[in-house]
Amino acid sequence: MADKAELKIDGKAYELPVVHGTEGDSGIDVSELRSKTSYITYDPAFGNTGSCQSAICYIDGEKGILRYRGIPVEQLAENSRFIETAYLLLFGQLPTEAELNWFSAGLTENAALHDDVRHFFYGFPSTTHPMVILSSVVCALSGFHPTPKDPAEDDEVYKQTAIKLMAKVRTIAAYSYKRSIGQPFIYPRRDLKYCANFLHMMFSLPYEDFNIDVDAERALNILFILHADHEQNCSTSTVRLVGSARANIYASIAAGISALSGPIHGGANQDVMEMLEEIHQAGGNIDSYLSEAMIPNSSKRLSGFGHRIYKTYDPRAKIIKEYCHKILRKHKGTDPLLEIAMKLEERALREEYFIKRNLYPNVDFYSGIVLKAIGIPTNMFPVMFAIGRLPGWITHWKEMRESKPAKIGRPRQIYVGPERTDYVPIDIRK
Ligand code: ACO
Repeated sequence: MADKAELKIDGKAYELPVVHGTEGDSGIDVSELRSKTSYITYDPAFGNTGSCQSAICYIDGEKGILRYRGIPVEQLAENSRFIETAYLLLFGQLPTEAELNWFSAGLTENAALHDDVRHFFYGFPSTTHPMVILSSVVCALSGFHPTPKDPAEDDEVYKQTAIKLMAKVRTIAAYSYKRSIGQPFIYPRRDLKYCANFLHMMFSLPYEDFNIDVDAERALNILFILHADHEQNCSTSTVRLVGSARANIYASIAAGISALSGPIHGGANQDVMEMLEEIHQAGGNIDSYLSEAMIPNSSKRLSGFGHRIYKTYDPRAKIIKEYCHKILRKHKGTDPLLEIAMKLEERALREEYFIKRNLYPNVDFYSGIVLKAIGIPTNMFPVMFAIGRLPGWITHWKEMRESKPAKIGRPRQIYVGPERTDYVPIDIRK
């Protein structure tokens, strides 16, 4: 493989170094391009730009491969629990039994919110989207849990901050739901595991404990594992960029949550359900919906289809599709929305439009159906994504801060506005 690339501009040749990753990825290092040539690279939406070297997550979008710290996501979904996978991401390797017990105890210890944090929830109108509440309250946590030292510079502070975030985000998420339906907050229980405790805080009532279904708990574990990291996506890049300004870790994660709330990122699972519902309400007419989504430049898209990186079936969609069938067979029989989803997928995959553009179902296409089956309301879907993605965000924040040189992120631009124009006083302006 080449170690150098040559670039010719205005008849002059420049040598650029090439960097190689462990799985055969290669990138042309343009970090000194401007100082050497006065040119910059132009890559809107960063589709061809590597912003960092990272050892956390590997994706091969053409082959449908996703690995965390080298381990295939299929193996993790099959054998691991969310908190074990989170540990793998946060601390770089699978935990021993003692390490997992330490982590688990830390999550239990930190699950409750400072009592004053409750007041934040009452400040929001009850119609506020739970993602808005989540990002605001996470940002506010920095006031309640200021870190004694910078977590990027002290391992013990990093560990404790990671644990606090992981433990409290789940509680904030459940509280935001309780607030939206006007029910009292339910405190976390010490005897429940991570996902079971979340279901308890979501669905229990005072003096009436929710009966936690083991399949629902397993489904949540799988969904969180599948969402735990996805390298330099929009929200993770946001966390890294905000953190690169030395913003505190809570503010950086809150920014990531805001990015994730967008309907073409983490809000897509909610969009998928709304699309399936819309088709269902209109008598299940898949063809007319598909035709509209296939009009070039149409504002209507087939939600849950397409991905910037995957140009084949999203490996996460494969896992969740299988699980989706299993859970619905076991608990609910056949859901009409699942039937529509299956038909829609089958029809879309046969369409020239989708084939030509390599558009396949992504993880959001099925995750909403699983969430619905276990009783999670639609507006909480992006929040579920955020809980799952949290260990990835924290890990990337740390990795970015430890990178050398850890410079502030600052893209450039090609200016296309007016040339120099003189100021015109208002009384003579036309
Ligand atoms: N339905 C219909 N057409 C689509 C879709 C879709 N879901 N996705 C892409 N296309 C078309 C585009 O119109 C474009 O067509 P053109 O070449 O004729 O102009 C072509 O496919 C390429 O699309 P881009 O928007 O350039 O692809 P990009 O990589 O920028 O976007 C994205 C990826 C945002 C995910 C897009 O596919 C999309 O909007 N999908 C629907 C929303 C969704 O499911 N988002 C979840 C993403 S996964 C995640 O965040 C977990």
